[in-house]
This record gives sequence, C-alpha cells and structure tokens, in this order.
Amino acid sequence: IRIYVPIDVAAIACGAEEVVTAIRDEAGRRGLPVEIVRNGSRGLLWLEPLVEVETAEGRIGFGPVSASDVPALFDGGFHEGKTGHALCIGMVAEHSYLTRQQRLTFARCGITDPRSLDDYRKFGGYKGFERALSIGPAAIVEEVFESGLRGRGGAGFPTGIKWRTVAATPEQQKYIVINADEGDSGTFSDRMIMEGDPFVVIEGMTIAGMAVGATKGYVYTRSEYPHAIQALNDAIKVARRAGLLGTNIGGSPYSFDMEVRMGAGAYICGEETSLLESLEGKRGLVRAKPPLPAIVGLFGKPTVINNVMSIASVPVILSEGSKFYKDFGMGRSRGTMPIQLAGDIKYGGLVEIAFGMELGDIVNGFGGGTASGRPARAVQVGGPLGAYVPLHQWNTLFDYEAFAGIGAGVGHGGITLFNDSVDMLKMARFAMEFCAIESCGKCTPCRVGSTRGVETFDKISRGESVEKNLALMTDLCETMKLGSLCALGGMVPFPVESAMRHFPEDFTPEPALQA
Ligand code: NAI
Ligand code: SF4
Repeated sequence: IRIYVPIDVAAIACGAEEVVTAIRDEAGRRGLPVEIVRNGSRGLLWLEPLVEVETAEGRIGFGPVSASDVPALFDGGFHEGKTGHALCIGMVAEHSYLTRQQRLTFARCGITDPRSLDDYRKFGGYKGFERALSIGPAAIVEEVFESGLRGRGGAGFPTGIKWRTVAATPEQQKYIVINADEGDSGTFSDRMIMEGDPFVVIEGMTIAGMAVGATKGYVYTRSEYPHAIQALNDAIKVARRAGLLGTNIGGSPYSFDMEVRMGAGAYICGEETSLLESLEGKRGLVRAKPPLPAIVGLFGKPTVINNVMSIASVPVILSEGSKFYKDFGMGRSRGTMPIQLAGDIKYGGLVEIAFGMELGDIVNGFGGGTASGRPARAVQVGGPLGAYVPLHQWNTLFDYEAFAGIGAGVGHGGITLFNDSVDMLKMARFAMEFCAIESCGKCTPCRVGSTRGVETFDKISRGESVEKNLALMTDLCETMKLGSLCALGGMVPFPVESAMRHFPEDFTPEPALQA
C-alpha cells in the first residue's frame, strides 16, 4: 500500500507530520504494510494535507485530512482505494483545478518524491540537459531566446537576451545566480518548486552554466525557507553523487557545481544588485546600474541572475523545444505563468496557466471568489509593490503588456483578493510603511519619501488639509517613480496611486472630521 503525504511546508503547517504519524500508527495496529512517500504539493492548498493512495487506476485523493480522521479513513477502506469517505476527492489527476491548467514548469510537483533522482528521470527529468549537451552552448541560448521566455521574477526581461549578453562577455569566470529570495507577500511558487521538485532548478542551472560558460552557481534564498534549503541541499548531494554536478557533468566536457546561500531577512536582498552584495558577504545595498550584472556581476564577473521560475522553465524548453513552449501564451507573453492565489479566497493555491486568461476567470474560476462570502472589492497583483485592480478591470488578460496598459504589472504572479471590508487608505499607507521599513537607505526619494508618505497618509486619515495632502502624495509618487534607484522605491507608487485612483471614496475624511 503506497500512500503519499506532502512534505511541502504548507501541508506541514496544516498538520501533515501528525497525519504521517497517525497513518503509521493506525497501519501498525491493523498489521497493514504501508509505504509512505513524501511528495511535494500539487498546489490545491485548501485541501492540504492532501493524502493520496496509489491504485492501479491512479492516485485517489483525500483532503484536507487531519490526524483524527485517519482511523475512520482506514475503517472506510481508503487504503484499498475505496472512495466512500466524505474527504475523498476522487482521482487527483482528474480534479478540475488541475485539468484546467497547463503544467509545464510544475509538471512533476506533487507527483514525484522530491528527493528521488529516479523519480525525476522517470517523469522527464534531465531530458532537457541531454538535448542541451547534444546541441551545444550557442544553440541552447538561441533555443531559450526563441521560446520567448521572459524573467518570471517580475520585470519580464527576455531571458535569452540576458544569456546572450553573458555568453558574449569574454571572461574566464562567470556565474549563475538564482534569485530565490521571494520576498513578496502572497507569493510562494519559488518555495513550492524548490521543496517539491528541486532537481528542475539544478537541471536548469546546469543548462544555463553550459550555455554561457559558467562553472559555478548559487541559489540565494531566504532564511524563512528552511524546508526549501534542505530539499535543495539534499538534491544537490544526490546530483553530485550521480555525476550531474561537478567536473565533466554527465560524462561531458562541461563542469558545473552549485551551492545554496541563505539571506538574513532583508526584503531588499531580493533586488538583484543588493543580492550580489549580500552573496559577497556585504550589507545588502543596491548598486547603481549600469554596469549590468550580466557584464559586471558577482565578484565583478559576468553573471546570469534568473528567478527560480525562469530557470525552472528552461529544462522543458530544451526537452520539448522552443516552439512547444512558445505555442502557449499570447502576444509577447509566451509560455505559462504559475499564479499564486491568496488573501480572502476560497480555493487558494497555485495554478500554472498559459498567459492570456482573464483576471476575473482566474480569481473566480480557479479561486472561487472570497472565502468569507463577502463581496470582492479588489485584487493586488504582484505582491506589496503591485497595483490594486478593481472589479471593473477584471476583464484584463493576464499578460505583461495588457497589465502595463492598466497601470499594473503581473509581477511574480501573486494575486491577493480583498473583500469589501478593506480600507484602501490603510493599504496605501501600508505600502509606504513597508517601503520605509525595507528601504536600503541609499537614495533619498525612497528613504525619506516613504516616511513622509506615511505621515501624509496619517494627516489625510485625520482629515487634515485632505485635498492639499492628496496633491502632495501624487507629487511624492511621481518623485519616487522617477528618482528612485531601484524597484522598491520606484514601484511603491503602484499600490498607492492605484488605491487613490480607483477608490477615492476611501481617501475622503469621515463626515465628523470634515465638519
Ligand atoms: P530591470 O527591468 O531593471 O531588470 C530586469 C532584468 O534584466 C535584470 O536582471 C537586469 O539586470 C536585466 N537586464 C536589463 N537590461 C539588460 C540587458 N541589456 N542585457 C542583459 N540583461 C539586462 O528590473 P529589476 O529591478 O531587476 O526588477 C524589478 C522587478 O522585480 C519588478 O518588476 C517587480 O515586479 C519585481 N519584484 C519581484 C519581487 C519578488 O519577490 N519576486 C520583489 C520585488 C520586486
Ligand atoms: Fe535603496 Fe530604496 Fe533607493 Fe532602492 S529605492 S536603492 S531600496 S533607498
């Protein structure tokens, strides 16, 4: 009897470890031989812990399971594939939340044992690497370019152009750095794939190393992600033992090795140049660009800095070909995007879909609307620096350009749903406060502007010279957008201005204060 219980930290937070113990104990009492496999999460987070039982026809799911449900599950014969228990969701692979997705990057996540290289290979792992070996560095870069892949961290810069720049820079030593700092609230795709399918990150980095001539890679991630760090480190050891990291990887003339480095809790270290400073052992201060990291990066050497999602998309692009990948999506947004649904949402989780779906279809079709049952009011797309999108713009297609057209961004694919009880003045103030706390302090518009922004919102909420202060806020946002050195100060105006623009009623003082 093979039973799967996710080792993903979202499942653990919901009691997966207790469920594993309960299954072992109950099976022991009944004398049943049970093998428990710890898989990643499939992203149906409202069902975690989602327990799956292997049958000849496929895996049958039960969720959300708590330890106290386990005796009744055995009584109902769940271990024999019986589907009578109320928690049964049927065949997991046939669940509509999954069948409506296009899982390219997350194809294995939740299916395989993240620590098993055999499992990884069984489900298509290292096919991209083998093809990369057969076509060679220049063709790898062109394949990535042709796929249309754009940086999934938020900026959407073409990955192929970044790789071309590094490949063309004549230096002996080059680096691959993966930005796994995922500091945006409401985003968790990097964490999920590192925990649920770490080999795909390793394979992607190895291909990138071959393509641009880098022999060393670093994954920079956050201290808040201990499970992801463990999963990656375990997988790195396995890959090294299998000859897939180190010298002459996979019997080829190429060498590539990597390690995981942990940040110390600063949001700004997710910005690529302060990330490099931190990797070099210094305080996370933003560097001025140019020079671009692609030319002068880690330790002054040419460096590819890619987000986890970008690098995890590379193996499938190589194994299936750029055309296959490019056939998903719309306009200049090609391929798929793993979207993370959070906030007051009924079916929170991760859905990977091709670019081009309407925002409302994502929030309502997948997310099922609010969990509280209250009317929805807005979504924030792209973390704390993302714009608030009101209901009347939910027909916007999920696409880099379409979002830019409404003054928003797709960011890292995080969508947070707010109901009608949200106070937009408080949210706008929060954006300024967040910036004041997380600012690296290097430039004045961000360091001073964010604190002045908090004070100005406090005045508005007290009803002090509201019109004058709102005009001042618009002016401040303009200064921060134009004068900030990096995206932190430069993007805070997105949530602030969108809140002011779409919800002006929240920025007028209470009648009592007006009087
Ligand atoms: P950027 O537009 O300055 O650069 C994007 C990337 O392209 C960088 O890696 C840059 O070095 C590279 N690049 C630009 N021109 C190049 C060229 N000619 N050749 C080679 N490489 C080139 O954007 P930035 O500041 O790196 O990122 C801003 C984005 O980060 C925002 O859009 C925001 O959505 C996102 N963000 C993501 C967070 C997360 O947790 N994932 C947190 C905060 C912001
Ligand atoms: Fe530092 Fe803020 Fe300036 Fe970025 S915008 S460099 S975080 S002070």
